[in-house]
Amino acid sequence: MDHMKQSCYELSLPVTEKCNPISRDIDRANGKQMVQILRRCDAEIFEKKINHDPFHQRLYSSPVIQTMVDVAKRVEMMLRDPEESLILLSGCGTSGRIAFLLVTSFNEMLNAQKQKQICSYIIAGGDRALLTSQEAPEDDPVLGACTLDKVCAGKKRVLFIGISCGMSAPFVAGQLDFCLKHLDVFTPVLLGFNPVHMARSEPMQDCSFHFKDVAERMTAEQRHKKAFVLNPVLGAEAISGSSRMKGGSATKIILETILLAGHEAAFRGKITTPEYISARIAASEMVYETTYSNSDELAALIHKAGESLQKKAHVYYIGWQTLGIIGLTDASECIPTYGADFDDIRGFINNGFSKMKNKEGDLSSLGPEFVIGHKDFVDTILPSLSQNDMVLFLFTVNDDLHEVTSLADQVRRRTSNLHAIAHDLEKFSVPERVCIMFETVLHITWSFSSEDVNSFVMRQHWELSTKWCLNAISTGAHVLKGKVYMNYMIDLRVTNSKLYRRAINILQQFTGCSESECERALLRAIYSTDDLSEDMTSADVWKHTDTANRQDRVVPTALVMIRCGCTLAEARHHLDCHPVIRDAVSACFNSSENKSTVD
Ligand code: F6P
Repeated sequence: MDHMKQSCYELSLPVTEKCNPISRDIDRANGKQMVQILRRCDAEIFEKKINHDPFHQRLYSSPVIQTMVDVAKRVEMMLRDPEESLILLSGCGTSGRIAFLLVTSFNEMLNAQKQKQICSYIIAGGDRALLTSQEAPEDDPVLGACTLDKVCAGKKRVLFIGISCGMSAPFVAGQLDFCLKHLDVFTPVLLGFNPVHMARSEPMQDCSFHFKDVAERMTAEQRHKKAFVLNPVLGAEAISGSSRMKGGSATKIILETILLAGHEAAFRGKITTPEYISARIAASEMVYETTYSNSDELAALIHKAGESLQKKAHVYYIGWQTLGIIGLTDASECIPTYGADFDDIRGFINNGFSKMKNKEGDLSSLGPEFVIGHKDFVDTILPSLSQNDMVLFLFTVNDDLHEVTSLADQVRRRTSNLHAIAHDLEKFSVPERVCIMFETVLHITWSFSSEDVNSFVMRQHWELSTKWCLNAISTGAHVLKGKVYMNYMIDLRVTNSKLYRRAINILQQFTGCSESECERALLRAIYSTDDLSEDMTSADVWKHTDTANRQDRVVPTALVMIRCGCTLAEARHHLDCHPVIRDAVSACFNSSENKSTVD
């Protein structure tokens, strides 16, 4: 079929936006096959070389490891001289959420050792973006720079780590540009997963430069060790462009390795060497192996979650400590990625906001999306819980197992559709009396080396493992619900300029039409008209995304209009007849292919 061929422009896409050949047929896979596909995609994070691109730097490549050593040395310097020093991590969407998680955990470790907490985070859109989708602030470079300026007021030295997996977020570009103009105070680091020449080169709002300019200036400063670019290539995402998956995992692996190395050097006298960094990455690779060695149990959980979503019921993650944060993060990503409602998949954490330790404190008055404590789950969800809803507990053998059992007991009185992901230690496992509370338990048993007995490292591994499991469950469940066509999330919400570009790319990919034809169809869907006015076509992309934010199914509508050569009303009628997006798209391809055969 013509839309299956890899077109020339697909080759020109940055790695993070490409379609991964491994997951091309994920939409037709069952739970078990899906786990194998995700396992192979995630394996690429650690691969030394990917056959078809032998030239890109990988996570284990020497220059990448050396840059990690250099940045870890900056962390060490900051920790040795904490007065007026700040380590600041910043990003949009998942990148900001991972920044939040790393900073909170690292500060907690510093605090436990009576050291000054010198880490902070910025997430585009503020703390509400930790739990909900706030895509528009990502487009604003001035907002990024102003927020940075405010957070750093009065600091003499700032190590700034700007995370943008796609090397594309204007919010982060604005911050890096600000740092480059004040190198006396700032050491900027860019973390992303494309080669620099693939960084985004589109104009940004109210700005004379673009992301690629900034990345090139950073590379130039790296020669004098005044700035650093950390950009190993991980291969394309399993769901095209969904950087919450491999991008998010690699962000966590890289930054916690750097922070820990700096800490070990500052307080335990361990010199940071390339060997030390490689060993820590290898430990994360072991987490990958251990997690995916439970593939049958994981497949069963995907199947259960898929069933719940197909029945228009819900999936609830009930997590303890930072596993609660991993659950909240995974759940919140389903809203922008799959156009899900906030209550399709929801996360809860023990003790709610007091456990989160986010900067803006308790946000529960902002609305139901911000109600996140276990007690809230008991008060607001439990009374109406049905057998179709899936409840998944996330805990470790170190958590309060009395609390786990007593909450499980309350849930069981309403539904038996209760499952758990439980992390065990080889010599210390979750007792049988706890396990029997659940219909299924995915036990992951860890054998830590003496070095890892550090409970901080252990928790990081449990978090990463849980992230891989939940990413698989929420992705798999949405695939089973029919939200994905091949490996494209075709019904994406076009709420910022990156997603606007991605929408046009998807239309080009599936129709073979020119960029301008695809953009016109997209605008017709966004502005709900067959006759675009001059005002509409000449408006800038931020006006388009603002309008698109209030519209449903814009990309599928545009796709049907192009493929079937029909009007907006006809396209919408076609989609109404096929509520499952994958079926709607397949039907449209079949009908247009039959038509062209007859023609
Ligand atoms: O714009 C939405 C989004 O794609 C999120 O899903 C993602 O987590 C965020 O942007 C950040 O992307 P990046 O790290 O590539 O800047």
